[in-house]
Amino acid sequence: MTKKHEFKFRQKDFTALRDIVYERTGIQLKDGKEEMVYTRISRRLRALNLPDFRSYLHFLTSEAGDAEAIDFVNAMTTNLTRFFRENHHFTHMREEVLRSKVIGSRMGVFEKKIRIWSAACSSGMEAYSIAMTVLASVPRFSNWDVRILATDIDTNMLERGKQGIYLEKDMEDVPDALLSKFVTIENGEAYMDEELKSIISFKRLNLMEDWPIRQKFDIIFCRNVMIYFDKDTQRHLVGRLMELLDEQGVLYVGHAESMTVARPGLVPIGKSTFRMTSKLEAVG
Ligand SMILES: C[S@@+](CC[C@H](N)C(=O)[O-])C[C@H]1O[C@@H](n2cnc3c(N)ncnc32)[C@H](O)[C@@H]1O
Repeated sequence: MTKKHEFKFRQKDFTALRDIVYERTGIQLKDGKEEMVYTRISRRLRALNLPDFRSYLHFLTSEAGDAEAIDFVNAMTTNLTRFFRENHHFTHMREEVLRSKVIGSRMGVFEKKIRIWSAACSSGMEAYSIAMTVLASVPRFSNWDVRILATDIDTNMLERGKQGIYLEKDMEDVPDALLSKFVTIENGEAYMDEELKSIISFKRLNLMEDWPIRQKFDIIFCRNVMIYFDKDTQRHLVGRLMELLDEQGVLYVGHAESMTVARPGLVPIGKSTFRMTSKLEAVG
């Protein structure tokens, strides 16, 4: 494994790094991911001027390696995302969830309040897609109290989300009406409108640790992150998400993640879409 590499990288270095990633993030690296780990972590070796993976492991697990823990996790995450990815979730949110919120608020059944969590938001494209959909769907928005919590374990991604600056080419799936309303394009860059930014809070949160969240959510997007976790971790995570969903709250997951989600109290209502419901309703 070491011949063609700039840094000495043994199978046992890979195994040790795999164990640390699992312990700290829940991400399960399958066999065959050695090259991926080599590429991602060799950048850290260069940045720290370390001669090989053994020295890196030594540093990472020492007291002095506390600060490195963040960069290590940032390097190990896969952050692939897109605006309006799995667009059917945004259509469902607009036509079902937000519509009934608006109608319910007119009838005095619901407060003019919406709480949404983009858990594992990556660089924020998901959170901005949510914000655009909400702002465009709720009439007289200024009378509403809307908050979107956008969390991820990767601090580099959260910085990008806070800046709200992407590339013009990232906008290809943003519907034209929303693009002209909420995005300024300049020199190949796409700047998110301040109104969108004002309703999103970007925060670091590790889904494997305690969550300092006291409120409940109308909607949770937890998409394309559970695929990196093992089945037990997925099941446990869904249980914790349910505790934070309001009565009738909706959970959107990635299309490859639906299998482990459905259970009493959380029923499928569409493609990779689930709604909280009372156990009796679910049975009946
Ligand atoms: C593939 S991206 C998905 C982004 C977005 N939800 C989407 O569907 O487009 C997965 C994200 O999960 C984050 N992640 C991985 N493990 C995590 C953990 N334990 N806690 C929080 N976020 C995590 C990664 O940093 C990455 O940004």
